[in-house]
Amino acid sequence: MATIQCATTTLILLLLLLLIIPRSNSQQEYVNNKQLDCNNEYNSTKGNLCNSLPSCTSYLTFKSSPPEYTTPAAISFLLNSTPALIAAANNITDVQTLPADTLVTVPVNCSCSGPYYQHNASYTIKVQGETYFSIANNTYQALTTCQALELQNTVGMRDLLKGQNLHVPLRCACPTQKQREAGFKYLLTYLVSQGESVSAIGDIFGVDEQSILDANELSTSSVIFYFTPISVPLKTEPPVTIPRAAIPPEDSPSPPLPPAPAGDGDSDSSKKWVIVGIVVGVVVLLILGAALFYLSKAFSGSTTTKATIPTTQSWSLSSEGVRYAIESLSVYKFEELQKATGFFGEENKIKGSVYRASFKGDYAAVKILKGDVSGEINLLRRINHFNIIRLSGFCVYKGDTYLVYEFAENDSLEDWLHSGSKKYENSTSLSWVQRVHIAHDVADALNYLHNYTSPPHVHKNLKSGNVLLDGNFRAKVSNLGLARAVEDHGDDGGFQLTRHVVGTHGYMAPEYIENGLITPKMDVFAFGVVLLELLSGREAVVGGDQNGSGEKMLSATVNHVLEGENVREKLRGFMDPNLRDEYPLELAYSMAELAKLCVARDLNARPQISEAFMILSKIQSSTLDWDPSDELERSRSVGQISDSSR
Ligand SMILES: *[C@@H]1O[C@H](CO)[C@@H](O)[C@H](O)[C@H]1NC(C)=O
Ligand SMILES: *[C@@H]1O[C@H](CO)[C@@H](O)[C@H](O)[C@H]1NC(C)=O
Ligand SMILES: *[C@@H]1O[C@H](CO)[C@@H](O)[C@H](O)[C@H]1NC(C)=O
Ligand SMILES: *[C@@H]1O[C@H](CO)[C@@H](O)[C@H](O)[C@H]1NC(C)=O
Ligand SMILES: *[C@@H]1O[C@H](CO)[C@@H](O)[C@H](O)[C@H]1NC(C)=O
Repeated sequence: MATIQCATTTLILLLLLLLIIPRSNSQQEYVNNKQLDCNNEYNSTKGNLCNSLPSCTSYLTFKSSPPEYTTPAAISFLLNSTPALIAAANNITDVQTLPADTLVTVPVNCSCSGPYYQHNASYTIKVQGETYFSIANNTYQALTTCQALELQNTVGMRDLLKGQNLHVPLRCACPTQKQREAGFKYLLTYLVSQGESVSAIGDIFGVDEQSILDANELSTSSVIFYFTPISVPLKTEPPVTIPRAAIPPEDSPSPPLPPAPAGDGDSDSSKKWVIVGIVVGVVVLLILGAALFYLSKAFSGSTTTKATIPTTQSWSLSSEGVRYAIESLSVYKFEELQKATGFFGEENKIKGSVYRASFKGDYAAVKILKGDVSGEINLLRRINHFNIIRLSGFCVYKGDTYLVYEFAENDSLEDWLHSGSKKYENSTSLSWVQRVHIAHDVADALNYLHNYTSPPHVHKNLKSGNVLLDGNFRAKVSNLGLARAVEDHGDDGGFQLTRHVVGTHGYMAPEYIENGLITPKMDVFAFGVVLLELLSGREAVVGGDQNGSGEKMLSATVNHVLEGENVREKLRGFMDPNLRDEYPLELAYSMAELAKLCVARDLNARPQISEAFMILSKIQSSTLDWDPSDELERSRSVGQISDSSR
């Protein structure tokens, strides 16, 4: 009797289930941990099934994962989304660094490719030894599967090499006819966290449990697994901050990893209260969030959205917090940049991949960079120094980043000093006073980078080509793409070493070329070379054939000039003829002495940039006293130097 009753109940339940879950209401059968079985193909691992909608907006979720994927900019590179969209969807800024494991929603375009929905991304293998599984499970956090990767790439599982570029199909979906009729607009690919149940996930997004079960062909008694994606149908855009798992990890009784039971039938009453509390919280948040979202949308009518760094960021801030918080970067649309640069026309090309842009009459420089440049963005937006080029905004488009900088009207120092090759051949040369100002400005910028940023930074690529000049010939140090944070662990040389030596020939310090040693003293060396360029007008490297034999380093010439007999004559001969003797030889001598110390082979013999900055401050104030028209004064200075140099 009991068995018959049981059987009928089961039958009724099954019938009910069949009625409730018509196949056309589902995206795909739940992956059910099959993504771990890379050697076998399953329909569910290939992707969600296409229905009548060919494409739609969809959402992925991703957990901020240090060291690399912690900013919307970096995450969007990985997932082929747009930093500004991620920022807007999560109420953060494009370059905000998120704490580890913060769940962000990532809006993407989802479309049909064969029978499956997917969003295409691409990935370049970084380290030898990465596998389809590690890429799918660890790098992409199960947003794709090893099976789908293998299916859509020609490279065999065992032939993966560093540097190879892979096509990455990310799992997404569009609502079915049935779901659309029920009011669902989007599908979100959700990464299940430890201890989460379907109902808890439903609570987070304000969706009833049954709709989620339907979308994944699950029943209330199904088991869902940690770190296996699940499709969540949504009637509205997802909330800007996703409240994390119903049970905080600390108090969590740490249920076994897979499987974690679906449903909360086993929860005790205190847990229920937690969930009730969260439901209320979520509802309030959802209402508030939606209201704020639409309000902010309504008010951001202008095409350029100002992404103001929210004050909640203080967790990642040091003493710079206050300034950080008030600074803002503009996020440009690609179309705006196209318009401002005349479609990146040749006439607006400044040099290389740098273009002049005009925003309503205000000039800016737009530089196109490949790959992830969030490091430079993150550094520059924290910097507020007159002598370091200011980043005003950026745009990410088709994998390229467009950085928008303040405009330096007079191009680079290189353009002015090394005439013959450049367009300033016919203009007047830089005067002594201007050169001293420029040297002082550059020292000021480096001093700031070395001693006033936290952590300290090394520019690593200082050269006259990276010293830009504004309308008043004040210097702006630019191109911080190679800049690195350095921590000095005491005097016993706790500095970083690199095997990847990059820089500009003629400016690289010997210890960096030979041992890859990165210290602030490498900037001091390059600064010395720039000083020598300012004095002599010569280039950092001259002569030499294609193999570099026969070339002369400017840094190697100064000792010869300043040592031995006839220093006065030799220095005069060394000075830039464009200065036409209109400089105080005594001060030129002091500057050459400083340059000589800066380019010393032994890095310990080089001054700190702060010392160089002080010496230049003195040279600058003496220069201000110096009257170029006073011939008598000038000859007296010359007289003094011949005395003092003996
Ligand atoms: C998998 O998909 C193929 C083609 O779409 C279909 O013929 C087959 O029945 C599916 N298998 C399962 C187990 O659903
Ligand atoms: C989807 O594509 C449309 C048009 O191509 C674009 O405007 C939109 O920003 C895209 N959405 C996402 C999330 O990338
Ligand atoms: C995504 O990639 C697949 C396979 O390479 C391709 O067939 C499809 O057209 C791509 N989809 C989009 C929207 O680019
Ligand atoms: C898959 O990735 C998650 C998150 O990084 C990790 O916890 C888990 O151990 C990985 N699984 C395997 C089998 O490596
Ligand atoms: C977005 O962040 C700001 C600053 O942290 C906060 O004041 C605001 O309430 C947030 N908006 C939403 C919708 O959460």
